[in-house]
Amino acid sequence: MTYTLAFDVYGTLIDTHGVVEALQAHVGPDAVRFSQCWRDKQLEYSFRRGLMGCYADFSICTRQALDYTCDALDKPLPEPVRESLMAVYRVLPAFDDVAAGLQQVRAAGHRVYAFSNGSAAAVNGLLRHAGLDDLVDGAVSVEAVASFKPDPAVYAHFLAATGSDADSVWLISSNPFDVLGAQAVGWKTAWVQRNPATVFDPWGVTPSCTVTGLDKLASCLEQV
Ligand code: LAC
Repeated sequence: MTYTLAFDVYGTLIDTHGVVEALQAHVGPDAVRFSQCWRDKQLEYSFRRGLMGCYADFSICTRQALDYTCDALDKPLPEPVRESLMAVYRVLPAFDDVAAGLQQVRAAGHRVYAFSNGSAAAVNGLLRHAGLDDLVDGAVSVEAVASFKPDPAVYAHFLAATGSDADSVWLISSNPFDVLGAQAVGWKTAWVQRNPATVFDPWGVTPSCTVTGLDKLASCLEQV
């Protein structure tokens, strides 16, 4: 059977911690801790804005989370440095297994979409920069519904935008909250656990499959 595949972008196709190298020049050995706080706060802001009905472009969540992290870790980075870090965020790298993984699932006949909290412009820019734009059939952004994952409305929007139904769609994500959100609305899910130390939320829900990289996805889809 062939499916419509919704690939999460930040953290799944694209490595949000690709900013660590740039951070090292400004915060030295705190770069990894800074990057983690920045990412965690960015997601928290998206969840809160979704709940509050207070949507703003995901880049606003990213920028406000950067400012929070500077304050929380007592790193008063000058404005031009903050702008340069935001610029790095617009050209973050893909994970190494992504191009091969997308090629394999396309060769197997599946439809491939990027599906993200990011704006369509931001997502298309990232895919283009990473050389992945020819490996997807399109990008679906939450901006059309002015909310964020895991609001059920954004998963419904993906189905409408791609002319799919929940039975034939998979969400492919490294983010456990995204996997839980998709499974809650009846999609099949693949959790991408690149780091064996990463923990899945103990909500009594098991992803349809778990893979260590996207190059393992095609064979996993054959078996379900
Ligand atoms: C995205 C978030 C989850 O790309 O990072 O949708």
